[in-house]
Amino acid sequence: MEKEIIQQNKETFLMLAKEDIKREGIDNLLAYLETTDFFTAPASSKYHLNEEGGLCAHSLNVYERMVALCDSEFGEENYNRESVAIIALFHDLCKTNTYKVEMRNVKENGEWVQKPYYTTDDSLPYGHGEKSVYMLSGFIKLTREEAMAINWHMGGFDRRVIGGSYDFNKAYNMYPLALLIHLADMQATFLDEKPIN
Ligand SMILES: [Fe+2]
Ligand SMILES: [Fe+2]
Repeated sequence: MEKEIIQQNKETFLMLAKEDIKREGIDNLLAYLETTDFFTAPASSKYHLNEEGGLCAHSLNVYERMVALCDSEFGEENYNRESVAIIALFHDLCKTNTYKVEMRNVKENGEWVQKPYYTTDDSLPYGHGEKSVYMLSGFIKLTREEAMAINWHMGGFDRRVIGGSYDFNKAYNMYPLALLIHLADMQATFLDEKPIN
């Protein structure tokens, strides 16, 4: 991703967060982001947007999809825009400071060359959605629905579900935004970002 696009995405992200979110602690949360790799990290190591700036770009794609889903489901003025912004912009906060670049040998035109690739090195192994909730809770107080939505945004792909948990079914029944953020995440990943592998 070009440097100008990365910078534009960062500005858009900060503008949306400041416009939509007035909750106590949001300033500290945004200041914290500046000390991390959030705006330059990839969205994944080898799937969707595995490139510099991917995580911020993905968060913006999810925000757009989430707003469109909420507009059509509830009507434009009939939902809490602050909640939707918190859920969409920060659902993957857990990916902050978890990727690093390593080198590997790849054969190109019959020659071995060194190429960089992303690998993961999570210094806070707290899970995925639950980790985003934990990190956010250090800065802002989440509502029950916001916490549920961020916690279960991976839906059936969540490792806890693979381990046998069906709690996300119940959460989706009780909290519409929990289902909608999962759908928005899937739309952004598979329709907007087209994972290459
Ligand atoms: Fe995620
Ligand atoms: Fe995501």
